[in-house]
Amino acid sequence: MARTMNLVLHVWRQKSRGAPGKLVRYEAKHVSEHMSFLEMLDVVNEELAKKGEDPIAFDHDCREGICGACGVVINGVAHGPLRGTTICQLHMRSFKDGDELTIEPWRAGAFPIIRDLVVDRGAFDRIIQAGGYISLRTGSAPEANSLPVAKGDSDAAFDAATCIGCGACVAACPNASAALFTAAKISHLALLPQGEPERADRARNMVAQMDAENFGHCTSHGECEAVCPKGISIGFIAKMNRELLSAMATAPNDVPRRKK
Ligand code: SF4
Ligand code: FES
Repeated sequence: MARTMNLVLHVWRQKSRGAPGKLVRYEAKHVSEHMSFLEMLDVVNEELAKKGEDPIAFDHDCREGICGACGVVINGVAHGPLRGTTICQLHMRSFKDGDELTIEPWRAGAFPIIRDLVVDRGAFDRIIQAGGYISLRTGSAPEANSLPVAKGDSDAAFDAATCIGCGACVAACPNASAALFTAAKISHLALLPQGEPERADRARNMVAQMDAENFGHCTSHGECEAVCPKGISIGFIAKMNRELLSAMATAPNDVPRRKK
């Protein structure tokens, strides 16, 4: 039989970006160990709705760990206590009866709060717009062996491509740096022949956009890698720096595009 638990939640409530926010205490009762963290919040919200109170706003979409929409800080840890897991895949069996959980949104100047636990991650979209694309014609898949890619490169490109853009790396970093996210996106395409035409521009423009969005600089704390639900390695940040240096060496006077 499923174990159930009663929890005390302290949830960040904030009506809008400019409104004052505060932690509000709620009780989550008879929570099944099989529920995901988001399902537990759904149950709390149903109780709030019954009482005519505003539900807690939180982001979610796929609920299977692939879209990057969900994410909150639980007791100071982005995505909670289970490594390599988004909160939609975090099950309540990771907690025990009587636990008190403080639930907060991602905290970063570049991710302003929209409401409660929902933040604006548009800065990530603008970094992608600055260079996270290729100019090759899309269409039907080419014959698999017509474009050979070394096994090591394809594996590393795949590893980088698993970044889901959730923003936990920024939330965990003491500098609120977006280096891990940007590095994953730059590396993914830099490792593949399809990414070659824009390779130098991509590195320059995505890093410039990251700086323009007021993310902090990476000082190698490694907190990003520790909370990343996809296990993206900070080794990709070194690759991003190499890509940038090489791009600057090939066109040192090229002024990067910055969009705001
Ligand atoms: S690097 Fe990891 S933590 Fe950062 S956005 Fe990508 S998946 Fe999320
Ligand atoms: S809701 Fe899509 S990753 Fe969690």
